Amino acid sequence: MPVSAFAPRRRALLVATLSLAVPGFAHGQKAGLKIGIIGTGRIGGALAEHWARAGHELTISSRHPEELRPLAERLGPHVRVGTPAEAAVFGEVLLIAVPYGALPQIGRDYAAQMRGKVVLETGNPFPGRDGEIAEPARAKGTGLASAEYLPGVRLVRAFSSVPHTAVQGEAYRPGERVGIPLAADDPSALAVAERLVRDAGFEPVVVGSLARARDFDVGSAVFGRALTATELRQALGLGR
Ligand SMILES: NC(=O)c1ccc[n+]([C@@H]2O[C@H](COP(=O)([O-])OP(=O)(O)OC[C@H]3O[C@@H](n4cnc5c(N)ncnc54)[C@H](OP(=O)(O)O)[C@@H]3O)[C@@H](O)[C@H]2O)c1
Repeated sequence: MPVSAFAPRRRALLVATLSLAVPGFAHGQKAGLKIGIIGTGRIGGALAEHWARAGHELTISSRHPEELRPLAERLGPHVRVGTPAEAAVFGEVLLIAVPYGALPQIGRDYAAQMRGKVVLETGNPFPGRDGEIAEPARAKGTGLASAEYLPGVRLVRAFSSVPHTAVQGEAYRPGERVGIPLAADDPSALAVAERLVRDAGFEPVVVGSLARARDFDVGSAVFGRALTATELRQALGLGR
């Protein structure tokens, strides 16, 4: 039946039903993106779940892909499992959510597959876990440091400062949503990241260029907190 054949009330009911069932549907009915996830742990796994529910197509990856099969089966037919290289090829947008110490190797090994793509990167450098790159990355700020490790990508720092418990449990919460600070140099990459933050059930808060990512790095006033977008803007001195 052509769409025009739906009576207005039936179409309104259909849209309302889809908006409840498919959160992304409410956001302008855009086509789903192809997203490759490198690092499907606490952060990557939670975002895979939210983005799959929003109608995106995903390849979730691991160095031991068979371990992700139960998750992929739970998330449905639009989620497949692969190696990190396969995820890098698959995604028109990539999420990298790995221990910071793995970034240099990922930037080297998948440079060709990632070139020119929008990459959302979540990592935080901790000396005890990430070794000798952690202190220089903290001193430089993660936006600039990650850009050096991931040359040729359209980088956005995202989902790096909010605890995984909030990324898992506070999506689409009633009332004001949790704000996710973003930093990027590429405006079109930022626009993709803003959409994906909304599709995950959060509110994007654009902080500025990659150099400004340090405003929400480890040790900043907002790091490790699940603040509303209003609280986040206030704490970072951003206008409304
Ligand atoms: N946890 C939080 O509350 C939180 C909040 C914000 C930001 N972050 C940051 O986000 C990043 C991810 O945190 P997380 O808590 O999600 O970590 P996690 O649960 O430990 O997951 C990290 C994933 O990265 C994968 N991985 C590790 N080394 C890899 C490599 N060389 N190549 C490809 N994949 C690799 C691992 O998968 P396989 O071993 O299966 O390959 C693992 O599932 C960290 O840098 C963290 O600091 C964490």
